[in-house]
Amino acid sequence: MAPVPRDTSIARGPREPARVIVWDPFIRLFHWLLVASVAVAITTSLILPITWLGWHLVAGIAALALVAARIVWGSLGSTYARFSSFVAAPGELLIHLRELQQGAAYRHRGHNPLGGAMIFALIAIIVAIGATGTIALGGALKIGPLAFAVGYAAGRTAWAAHQWLAYGLLGLIALHIGGAIYESRRTRENLVRAMIDGLKEARPADITAPPRQPSPGLATAVMAILLVGIAPAVIRMTGWPAAGVPDRPLDRAYARECGACHVAYHPSLLPAANWNVIMDELARHFGEDAELDPATAQSIRTYLIANAAEHYDTLAAHAFIQANPADPLRITATPFWMRRHASLSPQVFSTRSVGGKGQCDACHQDAAPGRFSPLAIAIPREPLP
Ligand code: HEC
Ligand code: HEC
Repeated sequence: MAPVPRDTSIARGPREPARVIVWDPFIRLFHWLLVASVAVAITTSLILPITWLGWHLVAGIAALALVAARIVWGSLGSTYARFSSFVAAPGELLIHLRELQQGAAYRHRGHNPLGGAMIFALIAIIVAIGATGTIALGGALKIGPLAFAVGYAAGRTAWAAHQWLAYGLLGLIALHIGGAIYESRRTRENLVRAMIDGLKEARPADITAPPRQPSPGLATAVMAILLVGIAPAVIRMTGWPAAGVPDRPLDRAYARECGACHVAYHPSLLPAANWNVIMDELARHFGEDAELDPATAQSIRTYLIANAAEHYDTLAAHAFIQANPADPLRITATPFWMRRHASLSPQVFSTRSVGGKGQCDACHQDAAPGRFSPLAIAIPREPLP
């Protein structure tokens, strides 16, 4: 005999049931702020150029702080905010799925087992995105609390993982929205509205959780302790010297002689072999005579070779080590440079305030130490005549 559907889940009882509070104000605020921060994080990375990295970091830090607060509230919050109200064993997920298939699933007043699993998955993936993002930021861009510890290669790997996890998050978000629409239809109650006003109908057959009193005071104290414990350490670590990036001032003779006609390029922007050729050919230097007396030339050559791209673990050094065989002496002819600046209109470089592709410091405030952080890019606005 086929099982008789027990469609108790959507029973409304004889009269319109009262709407009761299910999602407390913290949960609703958390939910919509997380939506906003994830939206900003995704827009500033997948759609906008890397110069938006600053906003991307603000959004990422906000998402992590929200998730941390949510974890605290998961053990100190009101009834349906508590993880204990929706943590479900894998077996229960399967039972719930089977009951849904048979049209016999009860309605849960809080998260049903599938919804609960989604919350844990979202929290886990956001934490993983934050972790890989911080490693990528430190290793590949030499910024943030892990810059002192992580090498470039590890940073690139973490960056790739960060991107894949972000696509995974988009997939989970699509499932989450699909689940909310499905459950809204099945139980004939608008769950999006419930996440706005916090109210759901109290139907007699609902599966409810034992009522729990929230402890907002204690939760705030725990969050404050977390903040006071973590933030200063993070700020301190951010100030530590980056791994693989020697912080040496430019050699005086180099800065004077090779900064006479254009900016003195940081030695990490070309490999040693290319600097050698440039130093060999100073008499025919891009159509100019830049000949130096032999002693000065030798000391500059030694300095350039000792500080060439091979000796720096920055993104710029790793990128510019790849010369363009057709024009190997120009940084601005390297495949990376051309790709990265392809989105800029050529007129930008010929304005008076920039003065040429080679004038890196017109747009990169940290060009002198060879850093080229995306947080330090500002294209000068041409002054009106
Ligand atoms: C007399 C002026 C002059 C001096 C001095 C000079 N350069 Fe140059 N340099 C130029 C010119 C002109 C270019 C080509 C600029 C262009 O085409 O945009 C150039 C280009 C370069 C480039 C390629 C920049 C790019 O577009 O990627 C490098 C690298 C470079 N110079 C290194 C040096 C070094 C090293 C020294 C010191 C030994 C030096 N220059 C001294 C005039 C000079
Ligand atoms: C007219 C302004 C301008 C000049 C001049 C300029 N850049 Fe850039 N650069 C940019 C912008 C804008 C970006 C970001 C492009 C993007 O990815 O959207 C960028 C990106 C880069 C990056 C990648 C940064 C990162 O972390 O992703 C490097 C490295 C770089 N530039 C090096 C140079 C060097 C070296 C020079 C000089 C030879 C130079 N740039 C000259 C504007 C400029």
